[in-house]
Amino acid sequence: MPLIQLYFTPALLLLVLTCPQVSQSMPVMVKGPVTDSWVFYAQILLHNITDALTKDNLFSGINCSQQSVKLNMETVTPSVCTPKGTTCSGIAKTEFDQNLCLTHIEKDLHHYYTFLAAQPDPNGSLAPTLSSLREFIENSFTLPLPGQLAETTEEVPPESQYNKRLNLCKVLKGFQLRSITINRVLSYMKSGEHTK
Ligand SMILES: *[C@@H]1O[C@H](CO)[C@@H](O)[C@H](O)[C@H]1NC(C)=O
Ligand SMILES: *[C@@H]1O[C@H](CO)[C@@H](O)[C@H](O)[C@H]1NC(C)=O
Ligand SMILES: *[C@@H]1O[C@H](CO)[C@@H](O)[C@H](O)[C@H]1NC(C)=O
Repeated sequence: MPLIQLYFTPALLLLVLTCPQVSQSMPVMVKGPVTDSWVFYAQILLHNITDALTKDNLFSGINCSQQSVKLNMETVTPSVCTPKGTTCSGIAKTEFDQNLCLTHIEKDLHHYYTFLAAQPDPNGSLAPTLSSLREFIENSFTLPLPGQLAETTEEVPPESQYNKRLNLCKVLKGFQLRSITINRVLSYMKSGEHTK
């Protein structure tokens, strides 16, 4: 699938179909205003995730494109990051809380970093995603990265190895979708539209 198509279609859907629900503010955790570099890191990340999804060695025995998407349910990024002026169930959203939105994005990035760093990856297929994720977190957010994470090395029975690969496929698809949303939202913030 071409990146451009990926970038716009499902993201629009996501942003249009979700309504803002959370309104409480959380502490500011960002390193500064959203700039070109944020947008750049987010683009590389999306590119590397999309590339990882093509690595068949991660999903052997599974056709990942036929699997469902597993989203991170610990955050509500699409809903708190809905742009101002978006009409939701007939009601136009009038506020955009940048800090709240960035807090959810930061939690997403940490969630996926912790998950991916714990995956066995003998062929290094996840390495580009992990490294762009690390750079994005370190250069744009303030929460420190999780410490050195031990890869599971114990013998796993074939059946649960299959389930692990299946889970990785679904989670990575969810990460791709979340990353598309993040790309769109950062471009929106960088444009300054949300302050008008
Ligand atoms: C990650 O994506 C970037 C941007 O497209 C690309 O330049 C880079 O080569 C990718 N990383 C790897 C190791 O594939
Ligand atoms: C992954 O690495 C193994 C050896 O570690 C190799 O046999 C296999 O061909 C590699 N698979 C891919 C798709 O590169
Ligand atoms: C995986 O599924 C997709 C969509 O159903 C199909 O187009 C593709 O050919 C399948 N790939 C393999 C290797 O079976």
